[in-house]
Amino acid sequence: MQLIDGKAVSAQMKQEIAEEVNRIKEAGGKIPHLAAVLVGHDGGSETYVANKVKTCEEVGFQSTLIRYEEDVTEEELLACVDRLNNNPEVDGFIVQLPLPKHISEQKIIEAIDYRKDVDGFHPINVGRMSIGLPCFVSATPAGILELLKRYEIETKGKHCVVLGRSNIVGKPMAMLMMQKNYPGDCTVTVCHSRSENLKEMCLEADIIIVALGVPEFLKADMVKEGAVVIDVGTTRMPSSVTKSGFKLTGDVRFDEVSPKCSYITPVPGGVGPMTIISLMKNTLLAGKKEIYS
Ligand code: GUN
Repeated sequence: MQLIDGKAVSAQMKQEIAEEVNRIKEAGGKIPHLAAVLVGHDGGSETYVANKVKTCEEVGFQSTLIRYEEDVTEEELLACVDRLNNNPEVDGFIVQLPLPKHISEQKIIEAIDYRKDVDGFHPINVGRMSIGLPCFVSATPAGILELLKRYEIETKGKHCVVLGRSNIVGKPMAMLMMQKNYPGDCTVTVCHSRSENLKEMCLEADIIIVALGVPEFLKADMVKEGAVVIDVGTTRMPSSVTKSGFKLTGDVRFDEVSPKCSYITPVPGGVGPMTIISLMKNTLLAGKKEIYS
């Protein structure tokens, strides 16, 4: 069994991006600039956005954090999106999800200029991804592809089972694993909370990507010997042991599943660190106008 070290890969990518920023600086070019919009004070969102801003600094990007209280109106948020769309200083921006219930997330996502949508959530980016055109690919699936690539994991002709059908991970992941390319060329099955034969499907899988958000869902008796297992779960479980008071728990029962695997991602230190660095990569592409001029 080989552990897929997302922490090490993301550190290497961070260095590669920082070097590229230095080259841009030396050539007198524009430093990529990411803006992040954070609504309210949800603990998870606060941490994610703080990490995004911190990573921007580490790679040499400019960053702007825009905060609103929980009671911001949809109109105010749409006006903010409009300002960011029209601000030539900002290359890309994200609106951290989830948003309060009185705001339509879909309306906000669709208001973002797809050329600045470094989250890859806009229907134009999702549609372009699904037909294999250049686009911003959402960060978690992009990070998983990068791990498969850097560990040279064979995907062609393999059976990949994706557990979960979210717009952010499950659906784009399935599309990408079936694309005519490497990593891809898989036979893809998507299972979800309503699937009746989920265990049988998993037992057929060469590659299992688990993105259900159900702690320790995937057990040893669901995994074929030699399978590749990618764990996207990051549930914060209360813990009396850690300083923060919580422990990040994956969707895979790691202790019993890992001995059966050829490759597996741990939690933490697997997919998690790849998500933020993939956002940085998208921001670099946005800054260089490499996808949309
Ligand atoms: N909430 C959870 N993951 C994400 C993400 O990748 N982007 C944004 N904007 N919000 C999120």
